[in-house]
Amino acid sequence: MPVPLLDDEFRLWTEWLREELGHRWGPERREILRTRLEPRRAALGLDSFDALLFHLRFHPEREAERALLVPHLTNNESYFCREQGSLEVIRDEVFPALRQQLGAGGQARLLSAACSTGEEAYTLSILAAEAGVFTAPGALRVTGVDVDPAALGRAEAGVYGEHAFRGTGAAWRARFFEKQGAEQWSVKPAVREPVRFRPANLVQNDWWRGLPPQHLILCRNVMIYFDADAVLRAARGLWEALAPGGYLFLGHAESLRQVPVPFNLERRPGALFYRRPEGDA
Ligand SMILES: C[S@@+](CC[C@H](N)C(=O)[O-])C[C@H]1O[C@@H](n2cnc3c(N)ncnc32)[C@H](O)[C@@H]1O
Repeated sequence: MPVPLLDDEFRLWTEWLREELGHRWGPERREILRTRLEPRRAALGLDSFDALLFHLRFHPEREAERALLVPHLTNNESYFCREQGSLEVIRDEVFPALRQQLGAGGQARLLSAACSTGEEAYTLSILAAEAGVFTAPGALRVTGVDVDPAALGRAEAGVYGEHAFRGTGAAWRARFFEKQGAEQWSVKPAVREPVRFRPANLVQNDWWRGLPPQHLILCRNVMIYFDADAVLRAARGLWEALAPGGYLFLGHAESLRQVPVPFNLERRPGALFYRRPEGDA
């Protein structure tokens, strides 16, 4: 039997979600939150959402529970070649500049932050292949990070249905994917080769540790779920993850306008992006 999400429980859950994931859950989405939490409450046989939160905070297996719960709390909507205006600037301006900066033997490091099921990371790999840049062995590393382990598992698998290709044509798909069964396509090995995935929570400290400085970061369509404090925490982390002179692209609906992190804003027709100033180590 489903149980209600009581006033105090809703308050405690929204505090936890804001602190742990950066997510803002307004009162108008209370019933949606209840339905997202319900499967885990029921699976654990707990009699309230308070008990589920207690389990998540203090149970010895809380990390395993977190990995099972987080996929219920995220929106993994993504597709290949999303927000074409930004991709054109990356292809026509960022890639040539990086090629010149890195010279022969350098490695271009590109990050898809909040990569979801991998479409954005593979799009970057394909964009470089189409542009004919970073083609030498080891010349390209694309890293995808996300807080949702289920999404990362699907990204690793690299197998997609029709919906993921709604921003592209059939010829593009045939060039970079192999048909697998009736309705699915799998990323070709050459596209997959430079791409790696790893877990990261963009609002927690130090998620970038162990990553070498990144030349380009796409962090798109995730800050729309964050409250102001989480946007600031994420922006500081992205700054740390970027190489001096590195490029940061957000989603169309996102901005760092109110955020006191000293990125330089640059505008192009159809896209805007941020840069960490050169010479700032
Ligand atoms: C709508 S998808 C965006 C995917 C892709 N960037 C795009 O624009 O197509 C949002 C992703 O953000 C991830 N996410 C949400 N909160 C996060 C956090 N605190 N840290 C890292 N990833 C997060 C979700 O798991 C989800 O996969």
